[in-house]
Amino acid sequence: MIEIVLNYLPLHLEMKDYTENIYPIFDQLLQKEAKERMLNQHAKALWMTGLSGSGKSTIGQYLEAQLHKEGYLTQMLDGDNIRSGLNNNLSFTASDRKENIRRIAEVSKLFVNCGIITLNCFISPTKEIRDYAKSIIGEKHFLEIFINAPLEECEVRDVKGLYKKARKGEIKNFTGIDSPYEAPQNPDLEIRTDQMTIQESADKIYKFILPYIQF
Ligand code: ADX
Repeated sequence: MIEIVLNYLPLHLEMKDYTENIYPIFDQLLQKEAKERMLNQHAKALWMTGLSGSGKSTIGQYLEAQLHKEGYLTQMLDGDNIRSGLNNNLSFTASDRKENIRRIAEVSKLFVNCGIITLNCFISPTKEIRDYAKSIIGEKHFLEIFINAPLEECEVRDVKGLYKKARKGEIKNFTGIDSPYEAPQNPDLEIRTDQMTIQESADKIYKFILPYIQF
């Protein structure tokens, strides 16, 4: 019952702001550019959105390996990892998904300000939630990549067996089944993982991001 109520609460009513007596010193910190120079790269947040099973994390791993080989410093952030640590108190209601993405975007921003390229692999199911992440990280550092595989394909793959459970009603609010996924209308890049291998997908992203990250 509480889950149902939380799921339908307007997103803007949920969060209280406690920053009244807080005095951040972001302006006095060593600048991002100085760190980028040291690392010989430009930092970006690659935001990979898509259904569960679309290939976000697998492609992220291949891409990270390629970037590492070429001398780029990266940090992968992905749903199952973050949700087993930092965000292990969050469910899959709309408000908890928003809080999940808010924390991840804040973490991603810290890495980007440190000159590090972040590979963010999260369903991030709505335009609102992705725009929220973009507003936290900063538009000029954010590249939205749509990891696109049709629901039917993800369901056939069912790597974690979660679609089967969701169909049987054993998991509630499962994205694509009884919780919505809004495909990005205007992503910076779209990857059709039902038409390309993982390696081809990673290569395509690598070629696309190179001009943005080369120092
Ligand atoms: S998000 O919607 O809040 O962005 P996130 O990417 O962190 O989701 O986590 C998604 C992962 O959690 C999926 O890949 C899947 O393994 C697992 N999961 C467990 N329950 C659900 C659910 N109800 N909906 C979607 N994914 C789920």
